[in-house]
Amino acid sequence: MNLSNLSTSISAFAPGFESRLQECIDVSLPVKGKLPDWLNGHLVRNGPAKFEAGLQQYRHWFDGLAKLHKFSFAGGEAKLTCKFLETDAYRIAIADKRIGLAEFGTNPSRSFMEKLANPFNPKLTDNANVNLVNLNEHYLALTETVNTMEFDCRDLTTIGKFNYDDKFAGQVTTAHPHYDFERRELYNLLIKLGPTSAYVIYKVGHGTTARKEIAVIKIKEPSYFHSFAVSANYIILVECPFVVNPLDVIVGNKTYVESYSWKATNATCVSVYRKDNGELVASAETDAFFCFHHVNAFEENGDVVVDLLAYPDAQIVQSTYLDNLRDASCSLPLSKLLRLRLSMASKTLAAENICEAGLELPRIYYERVNGKAYNYVYAPGQDNGKFLNRLVKLNVKTNELKDWRQDECYPGEPVFVARPGAINEDDGVVLSVVLDAGTNNSFLVVLNAASMDEMARLELPFIVPFGFHGQFFRNSGRK
Ligand code: CO
Repeated sequence: MNLSNLSTSISAFAPGFESRLQECIDVSLPVKGKLPDWLNGHLVRNGPAKFEAGLQQYRHWFDGLAKLHKFSFAGGEAKLTCKFLETDAYRIAIADKRIGLAEFGTNPSRSFMEKLANPFNPKLTDNANVNLVNLNEHYLALTETVNTMEFDCRDLTTIGKFNYDDKFAGQVTTAHPHYDFERRELYNLLIKLGPTSAYVIYKVGHGTTARKEIAVIKIKEPSYFHSFAVSANYIILVECPFVVNPLDVIVGNKTYVESYSWKATNATCVSVYRKDNGELVASAETDAFFCFHHVNAFEENGDVVVDLLAYPDAQIVQSTYLDNLRDASCSLPLSKLLRLRLSMASKTLAAENICEAGLELPRIYYERVNGKAYNYVYAPGQDNGKFLNRLVKLNVKTNELKDWRQDECYPGEPVFVARPGAINEDDGVVLSVVLDAGTNNSFLVVLNAASMDEMARLELPFIVPFGFHGQFFRNSGRK
């Protein structure tokens, strides 16, 4: 899409929603400022970077074709490697110049004959553009379908579809698995859609690629889940009343997300399951809200506390269609950081609003504080009523807020990387890819996580479209 002719009607951040086709291997990045000596490893980020297939346009931000960017840090220097994930969705888009698989907000166009041959849903996508995980030395790119892709972390080459060593069936999952460093287990949620639908909570133990069921919860109208929360002993599901008629997904006349509807009169339901045996130990309802991202959860004085970013309804799903994001009139709904406190004794639920800075894409010092009482969340926030325009560090105990910002700059998810041997929870750096609409380029900013002061920035050779999630790996290499 040529945006230059539309300069009066496009949003300032529209360049972050344009296709960027360049790929590169180990390009040295000029460093402005000074990178910490201890910063060694690789930040790998995932996100969409191609928004059309031939003449066909993807409609939603979440639909764009996955591209990985790897920022490698060693000895005060940095290099960039980036590459598209070679999925079926990508191959069909390149070879056939058409949208071939059902994405979040775009269905493939199918001929009458194709529909006649297969009246049910178009194949769900393998365009794993949301997140990443290192699962027992398999580097996996994740999306919300069960089609997970494996890649080589050294050069970002796609290895292929990843198959777990089990017979689990289901269509939908979250791209936000959790890891318990003490139990050495990964947890995630699988959703089976069909005449009988169910949430399946599962775990993957250390050294295996086989999933094991923790709990199977039959459900008539499954909710949309983008993420969930864990505490030391529990897995917590927050069911928002954005629900699907499973048959709509199976028939596939609507796009995946259009199969969901917002039921404002329904409650949001919080359910707490034991990690070890799947027992449902508490469940309670609160007023309806919509949530993509949980921040953290922990147990305190017989309560389970869940922090998440809540919207009044599911309008944010509509607001993130590309037409809206690229339009000068774009404005996104504001989230609130909501603290839910579920008393395990009385089974009552209290909700407290602890921040209204419009945060999204939150990160914590995951290895140390996930599932535990904590102080700090890092997240892009918006205070311009339009789009994420600053990086916020919030102390959830004191409400103290620090931020980093620059005019005409739009930052992505801030990944916290702890200094080896860190004592304080904020002893480390925050890494975020920023679109500079003033210079029409992107840079990676390195902030001192304690002060949120800029330590260094890496000017990138081209714009990196707004992505979703990244992970910092201290070592790379596939095995
Ligand atoms: Co996410």
